[in-house]
Amino acid sequence: MTEILRKKPLEAVLSQDSGDAPTGRLRKRLGRLDLIGFGVGIVIGTGIFTLTGVEAKQHAGPGVVLSFVIAGVVALLAAMCYAELASSVPTAGSAYTYAYATIGELVAWIIGWDLILEFILGASVVSRGWSGYLQNLFGLPTELFGERSVVNLGSMAITAALGVVAAVGIKESARVTNTLVVVKVAICLFVVVAGAFFVRGGNLTPFVPPSAPASEVATGAGQPLVQVLSGAAPSAFGFAGVLTAAAVVFFAYTGFEAVANLSEEAKRPAKDMAWGLLGTLVAATVLYVGVSLVLAGMVDYRHIDAGSPISSAFDSVGARWAGVLVSIAAVCGLTSVILVELVGIGRVGFAMGRDGLLPSPIARLHPRFGTPVRVTIIATVLIMVIGGLLPLTALADLVSVGALFAFLLVSIAVPVLRRRRPELPRAFRVPLSPVLPIVSALACLYLMLNLSVATWLRFLVWLVVGLAIYVGYGRRHARLRA
Ligand code: ALA
Repeated sequence: MTEILRKKPLEAVLSQDSGDAPTGRLRKRLGRLDLIGFGVGIVIGTGIFTLTGVEAKQHAGPGVVLSFVIAGVVALLAAMCYAELASSVPTAGSAYTYAYATIGELVAWIIGWDLILEFILGASVVSRGWSGYLQNLFGLPTELFGERSVVNLGSMAITAALGVVAAVGIKESARVTNTLVVVKVAICLFVVVAGAFFVRGGNLTPFVPPSAPASEVATGAGQPLVQVLSGAAPSAFGFAGVLTAAAVVFFAYTGFEAVANLSEEAKRPAKDMAWGLLGTLVAATVLYVGVSLVLAGMVDYRHIDAGSPISSAFDSVGARWAGVLVSIAAVCGLTSVILVELVGIGRVGFAMGRDGLLPSPIARLHPRFGTPVRVTIIATVLIMVIGGLLPLTALADLVSVGALFAFLLVSIAVPVLRRRRPELPRAFRVPLSPVLPIVSALACLYLMLNLSVATWLRFLVWLVVGLAIYVGYGRRHARLRA
């Protein structure tokens, strides 16, 4: 029984960095800009292009801009916690390894298992979205690229291609990601500047429409858990509506944590991790606020198109060309999301295999490429099967719950580690600890409670499966046993 609480000594975590693990040693090849590139690469994806419209229309009106600010602040708090840990304890396992060093093996396994869910499912969902945008852009056959395809060829092809890039090298992945990021950020900026000419002040007042009963009320397992627990009646608009929308648009910020998984490959983790994590979030927040403000200013929120809000907004003012640009940004954006998820999952799998919680042969690094090739291939095939064969857009919320759960634990790990190892050099320190880490943990919990009962049930099923694997395998094979 005691094994579930055994902790990995911090010295062991730090010394893996100097390469005495049987799996080999990750190469230190990433600079500050690569880290920000990976961060922006994974964060800016479907969220901004789709959720903005739905949430403005259903919950927040122009106040969706505030929702993006609130969600951005919560994400920033979590990112500060990640930055403190990633700069002082650089490890490919990120949240998984922090939990292993501070809380214990069982929680570490759960969080690792949770990260696997987040990255595999995230990449699968996004690969289908990618296929849809490509279909739209080039008028490709919907039977092979659309949401109703039996075998989604587009999703499988992009995953396979990016799996090769992720396997071949971290520097190669960084180069591809950085290029895609430049294109998507440039287009987003262009959208903001061009859209600003079509903003009408009248569309932005009142900025937060007065609250009203929600028109589309979720029932049963579709309700947010917090609603079931508190018995509160659902409402739309008003400040409560802004908060509801903040919980949903939080999805648009998820992914930045993958930057922490790259800390073992950073040339100067102590100096650069905080830049990578916080720089990513600042860039995303500025872009999101700009895009949502322009969108809400261009169209009366009651008439926003829920499916493709941004291109439809430009259509409505007679600027059809902008729709094409938005689709190009989306295709580039989603490509980099999938690539960074593949890179991230390779690192989590590598860290878990190095510790023996997953079979260690699959975590061995490739002698020439220096990447965890086997984990990357396994993940690529899984994502191809899931993304290619299952219409699972509805499962996107599982990605959010997975991410929030990791953020919650990382927030807790900050004060725990400060207490246990006060002398550890910390290049970045969360200000006002333990207050801000606790606020961060509570905010993540609040957002988790805003997800639906169905999402929670699916998440619990996933955790139970994970627990069974831990009992059957990890507990007995952990390297800590020796
Ligand atoms: N943050 C990523 C997105 O918005 C997952 O697509």
